Amino acid sequence: MSEPVKVCVTGAAGQIAYSLLYSIAKGDVFGPNTPITLTLLDILPMEQVLGGVVMELMDCAFPLLKKVIPTCDEKVAFTDIDAAFLVGAMPRREGMERKDLLGANVKIFESQGKALDQYAKKTVKVVVVGNPANTNALICSKYAPSIPKENFSCLTRLDQNRAQAQIASRLGIANSDVSKVIIWGNHSSTQFPDVRHAVALVNGKKVPVPEAVKDDSYLKNEFLKTVQTRGAAVIKARKLSSAMSAAKATADHMRDWWFGTEGDNWVSMGVFSTGAYGVPEGVMYSFPVRIKNKQWTIVEGLEINDFAREKMDLTAKELIEEKTMADEVCKA
Ligand code: NAI
Repeated sequence: MSEPVKVCVTGAAGQIAYSLLYSIAKGDVFGPNTPITLTLLDILPMEQVLGGVVMELMDCAFPLLKKVIPTCDEKVAFTDIDAAFLVGAMPRREGMERKDLLGANVKIFESQGKALDQYAKKTVKVVVVGNPANTNALICSKYAPSIPKENFSCLTRLDQNRAQAQIASRLGIANSDVSKVIIWGNHSSTQFPDVRHAVALVNGKKVPVPEAVKDDSYLKNEFLKTVQTRGAAVIKARKLSSAMSAAKATADHMRDWWFGTEGDNWVSMGVFSTGAYGVPEGVMYSFPVRIKNKQWTIVEGLEINDFAREKMDLTAKELIEEKTMADEVCKA
């Protein structure tokens, strides 16, 4: 067995973490032969709940789980970690404006960025799940200047998985037979789920998804809307936000970052924009990426038509607005 990977999960007493911790400890993310040390960060009022999570992790008797450290102290949580799952954030309360939520959460990520800068390994890989995920990831990276910007990302894999599953269901094929779905932009309702370059395996033959679906209007309307508003639909039905699927997607995201993407396949993740595809520099934008040796590169050369351009610009505009608001909050 190799050296343990030191992993931090924040929001560890919350509902996404409840599923995510199980996946990580079982070996779904860092492989079946990698021992794991877990640090679990939450806030003081959740200390007792966190204690219960620790008991359950112990009672699972996972062979790979070497140590679990629950804490409310960022220094303890982040010291020498190899990977961070930043799930913890304040939930939106009734009557709260979007910008109030952004203000509260951006402050959390400013503080955690500073702590990561001070205590984590410089090679740490960070995925931000807590909303607004893209802008939180941006702020976190801004306040951790000694860690490369490429080591920060945000989760749009849930949106990718949702889009993939919608297409598979429409075509009556397995989820694994749909690949190269792209989520562009923000993890919000302005995101652009794009299947123009996606591929479906139908009757043993690889077919472009638009050709397999044969319904452009569905892809431009119902499909888009379903994926963009899926989070709200789950909340309406469950009275709670997506948790099992969010945890699965978070595990998928980090596993692919750790082990790389296969062949010419790609995955979507929110990463720092340096201007690819005409996206403004300096926002955390979801792009299609290929990953090798734990380094992602944006897939180049995909054709962007007028419809896609409009959608990609709209979601970029929202991210610029969020960035401006976040910078104001951090300056105050
Ligand atoms: P939850 O409310 O069940 O758990 C959040 C946990 O974070 C709570 O235990 C809370 O005490 C903790 N927390 C709050 N401030 C903290 C801090 N400063 N440090 C450490 N922990 C802190 O929420 P849930 O359902 O687990 O969701 C977590 C976040 O993930 C939310 O912001 C949600 O909107 C977001 N989300 C993002 C998705 C994505 O695809 N990017 C998908 C689904 C949810």
